[in-house]
Amino acid sequence: MNTSAAEKIDIQKVESSRIGQVDFNNLTFGSAFSDHMFECDYKDGVWQNPKIKPYGPLTISPGAKVFHYGQAVFEGMKAFKDEAGKVWLFRPEQNFLRINKSSVRMAIPEFPRDIFFEALTTLVKIDKDWVKPGQGNSLYIRPFVIATQVGVSASPSTEYKFMILMSPAQAYYTGDIKVIIADHYSRSANGGVGAAKAAGNYGAQFFPTNLAREKGFQQVIWTDASNHQYLEEAGTMNVFFRVNDTLLTAPISDRILDGVTRKSVIALAKQDNITVEERPVLVSEIVEAAKNGSLKEIFGAGTAAVISPVNAFSYQDIIYELEKQEDGFASRFKKELTDIQYNLSEDPFGWRYEVL
Ligand code: COI
Repeated sequence: MNTSAAEKIDIQKVESSRIGQVDFNNLTFGSAFSDHMFECDYKDGVWQNPKIKPYGPLTISPGAKVFHYGQAVFEGMKAFKDEAGKVWLFRPEQNFLRINKSSVRMAIPEFPRDIFFEALTTLVKIDKDWVKPGQGNSLYIRPFVIATQVGVSASPSTEYKFMILMSPAQAYYTGDIKVIIADHYSRSANGGVGAAKAAGNYGAQFFPTNLAREKGFQQVIWTDASNHQYLEEAGTMNVFFRVNDTLLTAPISDRILDGVTRKSVIALAKQDNITVEERPVLVSEIVEAAKNGSLKEIFGAGTAAVISPVNAFSYQDIIYELEKQEDGFASRFKKELTDIQYNLSEDPFGWRYEVL
């Protein structure tokens, strides 16, 4: 589709904004939504009727396939406002490519690039007042696709809805993060959907994460499904381990999400001449490093959570505490990353994408 087709996005604006009802100093992640949303339907083999309209409920048949077979994928990205009032996205091309990669894995038709970018930038421009300035503030953007064909036969839907919602956000995690290393449950398996941002990947984590919470831990570090020997992801994030001054993280595979923050951290580390090893990381080597003092940091990396240091981990009922690192890798990468996102530093990688 070319620009002229994307220009056909039908725009219906709210009569009055809800922005005055939102307490921007006390936001619970993902609970408030901006005034408008984007919606586009797939029918008869084409994506059609792109529209921006007031945020509000949908009417969908209870027979729609998404409710029965979980055929749904999503993305997470953020808009930032700089000190001059300009609004930027961070590496949106990566999210565009990944939602289509996820869609292919879930037998969902790919979404056209021109409508994606036109919808995204138009929506952010319309709701620009929902992007608050100041480090820590952002507008979390949630594109997603759901299967809307009515029918409970277990086969791919012939109809879909692609949508974009936007939610003003601050920190995803507050306070200390303690994690349990999984030795029973798994997040993904070889040949599975771990590399896709499939909705069910997240829903399936809730039960084991609740069990971890009951024991006083916020998240689970997932290990490989075969024999739980290798460390893979942390909760909703990719995970990094700093052993002495080397950074370790699991390599991308069909079990691991190709995280945008993950790949940005790796690029920043390489720029800073830090050795990065993308390789299978054994649980036993991290436990050993914790015992001999060479494990300096563990941190999660993700769009919502940015960079989140882990303070302690539990493995087979033994708790290993990590010393707080004021000037550690996590705080350094967080600063370097957010300085680029908020237009406070040069952007040697070309990651910032100007919206207005
Ligand atoms: C993100 O970081 O965007 C995520 O996908 C996490 C989300 C499940 C809150």
